[in-house]
Amino acid sequence: MEFIPLGKWIRTMSCQILPFKSPLQIASIALRRKVLRIPLGLDFTDQELAEEDQQIHFAYIVKQQVLGVLLLKPQDEQMLKMRQVAVDPTQQGQGIGKSMVAFSEQWAKENGFNTIELNARKTAVPFYLNLAYQIEGSEFEEVGVPHYKMVKKLSSIA
Ligand SMILES: CC(C)(COP(=O)(O)OP(=O)(O)OC[C@H]1O[C@@H](n2cnc3c(N)ncnc32)[C@H](O)[C@@H]1OP(=O)(O)O)[C@@H](O)C(=O)NCCC(=O)NCCS
Repeated sequence: MEFIPLGKWIRTMSCQILPFKSPLQIASIALRRKVLRIPLGLDFTDQELAEEDQQIHFAYIVKQQVLGVLLLKPQDEQMLKMRQVAVDPTQQGQGIGKSMVAFSEQWAKENGFNTIELNARKTAVPFYLNLAYQIEGSEFEEVGVPHYKMVKKLSSIA
């Protein structure tokens, strides 16, 4: 009998889109704050968060807990910007980031987008290289830490 990797299947099915201002989307802000802002001594402004109403909020949810978050922001009809990618520190290195990126790329393709760009923290560049994103241009600073612009052309849906 063929072995079914149930754990992996459950993980894949844990990615979802959170409606803006839903309880889980609000919980996802707490994770972003913990992973992406507090370590830098920064926080989000109310205006920054309010302006995210037109962005797509992806999350990795297990037992109603937000373990990972990822946002896609439309730049034009073909291009999206991936931003705010964060996995709970206790859950990193288990494939959650990778499955959120794959899930969001699939959503992007199904919704007519063909390119994703992002500003990667230098420390996360190997994560994105591993997922076929390519560096464009040279290092720059954002939120006080070194970044690289990275881009991926999405393959068309088979
Ligand atoms: C970067 C981050 C989102 C990756 O998520 P994750 O769930 O820990 O990563 P995954 O377990 O899905 O890793 C996928 C692959 O990338 C590799 N990888 C992940 N983070 C890496 C890193 N910082 N450097 C090198 N490789 C990395 C993993 O080894 C894995 O490789 P494999 O597929 O060959 O096994 C997560 O570690 C995180 O939240 N970091 C802090 C916040 C951050 O830097 N966010 C990105 C801002 S641009």
